[in-house]
Amino acid sequence: MSPLIVLVGPMGVGKSTVGRLLAERLGVGHRDTDDDIVAAQGRSIADIFVEDGEDAFRALEKDAVREALRGHDGVLSLGGGAVLDAGTRSLLAAQRVVYLSMDVEEAVRRTGLNTARPLLAVNPRKQWRELMQARRHLYEEVATAVVPTDGRTPEEVTEAALDALELKEA
Ligand code: S3P
Repeated sequence: MSPLIVLVGPMGVGKSTVGRLLAERLGVGHRDTDDDIVAAQGRSIADIFVEDGEDAFRALEKDAVREALRGHDGVLSLGGGAVLDAGTRSLLAAQRVVYLSMDVEEAVRRTGLNTARPLLAVNPRKQWRELMQARRHLYEEVATAVVPTDGRTPEEVTEAALDALELKEA
C-alpha cells in the first residue's frame, strides 16, 4: 500500500485543505501526519514543541511519515518540516509528490498571525525567509510536480495539481 499523492510544502500553503479536496475529487481518503501525531500524543503540536523540543517532535514526525507512507492509499499531507529528514526524503523518492509553493507575501498573509505554528510566532517574514532558504531545495528534491498557490483558491490549486499529475477523477 502507498499513497496516491503526497503533498509537501511550507506551513500555511494549504496542504491539508488541498489534500482534502484532492481526496474528494479522486474518491479516496485524506490523511495528515500532523493529525496522526496529535492523535497519538493526545496534545497539540505547539505543546510538543514547548514541552519536549523540536528534535523530539522531528523523531515523532519521522515515524509518523513512515507509518503513513506504508499504511495509507489515498492523499497524504506532510508537515512542513518533514522533508528535513534524509531518511524521509529517500522514502519520498518512490512516491508521487506534489510540492505546493508560495512566495513570502502570500506566506505572511496566510500564517503571519497564527500562533498555532510555533516556528513562525515571532517575526514571521524573516523566519519564513530563513525557513525557505533551508528547505526550498529539499521540497524541490522530492517533488514530482511543483504547483504554485499564490493568488489561487484551494479549488484552483487542486485543479492544477490534478493537471500536473495527469490524474483522472473518480
Ligand atoms: C512545521 C510545520 C507544521 C508542523 C510543525 C512544524 C514545520 O505543519 O508540523 O509546526 O517545521 O514547517 P504544517 O506544515 O502542516 O503547518
